[in-house]
Amino acid sequence: MNKVGTRQIETDRLLLRRFVIEDAEDMYSGWCNDPEVTRFLTWPVHESVEVTRYVLNDWIPRYEGGDYFNWVMELKETGKIIGNISVVRVREDIGEALIGYCMSRSYWGNEYMPEALKAVINYLFDVAGMNRVCATHDSNNPKSGRVMQKAGMKYEGTLRQAGLNIQGICDSVCYSVIKSDREQQ
Ligand SMILES: CC(C)(COP(=O)(O)OP(=O)(O)OC[C@H]1O[C@@H](n2cnc3c(N)ncnc32)[C@H](O)[C@@H]1OP(=O)(O)O)[C@@H](O)C(=O)NCCC(=O)NCCS
Repeated sequence: MNKVGTRQIETDRLLLRRFVIEDAEDMYSGWCNDPEVTRFLTWPVHESVEVTRYVLNDWIPRYEGGDYFNWVMELKETGKIIGNISVVRVREDIGEALIGYCMSRSYWGNEYMPEALKAVINYLFDVAGMNRVCATHDSNNPKSGRVMQKAGMKYEGTLRQAGLNIQGICDSVCYSVIKSDREQQ
């Protein structure tokens, strides 16, 4: 793995960049305070913007390390921030990155997340030198699986009751891309 950390990525419609503390208000009102967004996530809605600020104050110093990958998604057309995509776990021994993401509900259905995920996958292989990029979702949240499919990830299987989110224990649907998948294309 190359210790490149979170560098800016540009796609057709999005700028993926590092969070700054000034993002707290829009992040809170956009997605962190919406129970529909957090329904299948590991964290509950933020009670106030202070919680969002606290989270950002924890995240931002981590950009100093080369093994921290966490982007805010900014819409190029408007400059508004619309969501978050990050690596939630790195396994350096096998060069694996596990990805997580969420987005403001008012922007759902425009394929912004597949666009972001494709770009992050490319970055993790081509810049960060990963060997395997994976993602999982609760079997009750198939729309997240659609994002993985649209980004070219392969379905690997469903691990029964292997996931945990704020709903409790769930079946975990697993997707991945490995380096050799890309070399075959
Ligand atoms: C999952 C999520 C990131 C999808 O992002 P997106 O940019 O809307 O992705 P897409 O536009 O490709 O839509 C994906 C699927 O979501 C569903 N969807 C789209 N718009 C929707 C809407 N307004 N309401 C409910 N579901 C919707 C559809 O099933 C769609 O699949 P389809 O294109 O085959 O019909 C977004 O819904 C989200 O942030 N959800 C809450 C957080 C979450 O679940 N994160 C993943 C945890 S594993």
